[in-house]
Amino acid sequence: MRQQSSLKEGVSPVSNLLDDGPIVLPALLLCDFGHLADEVARLESAGAKAIHLDVMDGRFVPQLTYGMVVVEAVRRAATVPIEVHLMIEEPDQTAADYARAGADIVTVHIEGLANPEATLAAITAAGSRAHLAISPGTPVERVQPFLAAAAGVLVMSVDPGFGGQAFQPAALDKLAQLRLLRAEHGLALQLGIDGGIAAGTIAAAAWAGAELIVAGSAVIRSGDYAAAIRELQQIARQEVD
Ligand code: DX5
Ligand code: ZN
Repeated sequence: MRQQSSLKEGVSPVSNLLDDGPIVLPALLLCDFGHLADEVARLESAGAKAIHLDVMDGRFVPQLTYGMVVVEAVRRAATVPIEVHLMIEEPDQTAADYARAGADIVTVHIEGLANPEATLAAITAAGSRAHLAISPGTPVERVQPFLAAAAGVLVMSVDPGFGGQAFQPAALDKLAQLRLLRAEHGLALQLGIDGGIAAGTIAAAAWAGAELIVAGSAVIRSGDYAAAIRELQQIARQEVD
């Protein structure tokens, strides 16, 4: 496997992305997989500042999508940072490999981790940001002991597994709770939200504190990636101005 440094050469660090407010990360779940590199290029020219990749193993969630080989291919095709959202069993085993495959952010579900501290440390040591994800049924208290070891938290606003589901507003309370914890403990966490984000839900997500805002169907099924990204991005930034 190539060194992650060469894979990520020329890609700007994720920490620079949030200078102007929250960003929308289109999710590569419902795109045309027969033309993956073209889809990445279309999203970038449509204004995507980063891209979200949903890795599903058919066990942690019912659907099976893609793994390391495709992540590497997207890394080569993309010039923006990529977040790899692992919805897999036993993520402790392979999470750091996704970092080495060129993910800028590796996001692992707390529900699947056997040893959160060690796995977050392994991702970080491999050169990526280590983020924790929490499913709708999981309380914030479950990630609280590991927040100091994490660089971010992705709050799921749908049950992981499929694109195009309805937004679950309980995620907003979790974001508020995480913001409080971040302030109280002086943590440097990037907060994200994933699931059911569209023009009607993104304002509430940004208002609640989401900075990395994942949007799948709202972008990919829009027919006009640039218009969809622009609209979502504008609404999100108005909320934090
Ligand atoms: C769901 C995935 C999401 C999905 C979002 O399990 O984690 O990233 O692609 O799709 P929408 O925005 O359509 O809910
Ligand atoms: Zn996702």
